[in-house]
Amino acid sequence: MKIGILISGRGSNLAAIISAIKSDKIPAKISLCLSDRASAKGLEIAYLHKIPAIFIDPKGLSREEYDHLLVAELKNKGVELVCLAGFMRIISPYFVRSFPNRIMNIHPALLPSFTGLSAQKQALDYGAKVSGCTVHFVDEGCDTGPIILQKAVPILENDTEESLAKKILAEEYKLYPEAISLFCQGRLRVEGRRVRIDNTLANQK
Ligand code: GRF
Repeated sequence: MKIGILISGRGSNLAAIISAIKSDKIPAKISLCLSDRASAKGLEIAYLHKIPAIFIDPKGLSREEYDHLLVAELKNKGVELVCLAGFMRIISPYFVRSFPNRIMNIHPALLPSFTGLSAQKQALDYGAKVSGCTVHFVDEGCDTGPIILQKAVPILENDTEESLAKKILAEEYKLYPEAISLFCQGRLRVEGRRVRIDNTLANQK
């Protein structure tokens, strides 16, 4: 399975996915890493692991024009699954339709709560006692696609935005590779809003 990863920044989820592939937890290869920011630290992580990585400048382009460039690069590499990992742009319907149920995202909250930016701060400000992370397929809305996996973390009295983000990230590093691996093994089936996970293989072990 050929994966394409889209980033805008730090790339710590990218690093977690690379490490899961190296330890044979995901039967896949990262064929391409794309960034909309030249300064994204994640690009350096990709270079370090000899993964083809390119910065594509969105300046002066409409969302749709930009996404045509991204899709062309991904298709050119034969990418079958696109993983958004801290990619800070909303992708166009054109992009979504180019990879139907083949784009995943990780969000640092338990969807459908706290969509969009600063999800950890939103959870704290709301006074939630639990938050977490969600891996979902990307549809044409913002953080609204069918949910694949979720993991909860408690919000404690002394938690700050930073401490909560750190706890959630630790779970993201496990959850995202797990979801990608399930997809690569052909064990995910989307039925309307529900993502069914085929446990037959797991049960045979
Ligand atoms: C993560 O918190 C992820 O949930 C969100 O963006 C952040 C990306 O971090 N979508 P990194 O670039 O993977 O370190």
